[in-house]
Amino acid sequence: MTTKEKIISILEEHKGSYLSGEDIGKKLNISRAAVSKAIKELKNNGYTIDSINRKGHCIPHKSNTLSHIEIKKNLKFDNDIIIKDSVLSTNLDGKNYLLNNPKHGTVIVANEQNDGRGRKGRKFFSPKNTGIYMSIILKPHILLLENSLKITIATAVAISKAIDALCNKNTQIKWVNDIFLNNKKICGILTEAITDFETGSIENIVIGIGINFNTLDFPEELSHIAGSIFSQRVTPVNRNQLIAHIVNNLMDIIEDLENPEIIKIYREKSFLIGKDISFYERDSVVESTVLDIDSNGYLIVQDSNMIIRKLKSGEVSIKW
Ligand code: BTN
Repeated sequence: MTTKEKIISILEEHKGSYLSGEDIGKKLNISRAAVSKAIKELKNNGYTIDSINRKGHCIPHKSNTLSHIEIKKNLKFDNDIIIKDSVLSTNLDGKNYLLNNPKHGTVIVANEQNDGRGRKGRKFFSPKNTGIYMSIILKPHILLLENSLKITIATAVAISKAIDALCNKNTQIKWVNDIFLNNKKICGILTEAITDFETGSIENIVIGIGINFNTLDFPEELSHIAGSIFSQRVTPVNRNQLIAHIVNNLMDIIEDLENPEIIKIYREKSFLIGKDISFYERDSVVESTVLDIDSNGYLIVQDSNMIIRKLKSGEVSIKW
């Protein structure tokens, strides 16, 4: 552990109480000045640490600060966790990080993104401290490109289940992989695969997950569609716990993509079955009703002429 990690660990052990720089220094056998310098850097890295003259330093009880130690404490596996304060996009970092030959399951998480990306080149609103912006690097043993829908579906199930269990919510999944709560989108997923052209197999996957954790203010254009898991500043669970829960679920589920239970849960949590939707077919808009999701994850829809289609990919809009 680095000195900064050790300091965070000590402060987290005493969460809610103040420890003087001198006491921290004694524990670590370093000077008070070295403690002050490390604490200053930790604050610059986005940690919430209260410092009061003559009293010392404290991580407030309800602190929602991203913490390496707290994520690790809640993980089932030995994932590498990289926390950054501000990035352009964690998916971009994830793809660049592939050059370092990262471990399967490496997670990059940031406190804010300045160029967060969504599907179809859209932007993903990623304000500081109130969201989870993370990318997980997976190195599947053998996975063919045509199976990529299964990864997308499994990821949505892993996230939805984690939010429900930890945050006590009842989320739904909008095909293919948006997570909804109370009719509003609270999470989007952007999966990027790096494939071997010759074999058609997927070598690395970067799964980007963007969650509005307790984002209260959205820009005008998003306010009618975007929601948040929590609608208050002080939350009963923190981002570190949810990150760890999602990673645990994902690591488990990804090992057994053929498990029929995944599609079963995906269907049960569907936000679309029974709803009227529209989508583009070539250049024209088709309106249909969603009948079901089949065992491959394809959306089964029927138009007003009773014509049934199976949608394998793409985006659909709900007719409210
Ligand atoms: C979507 O809803 O269209 C997908 C949104 C995906 C956003 C996440 S946030 C972490 C990762 N980094 C990005 O730039 N995008 C994904």
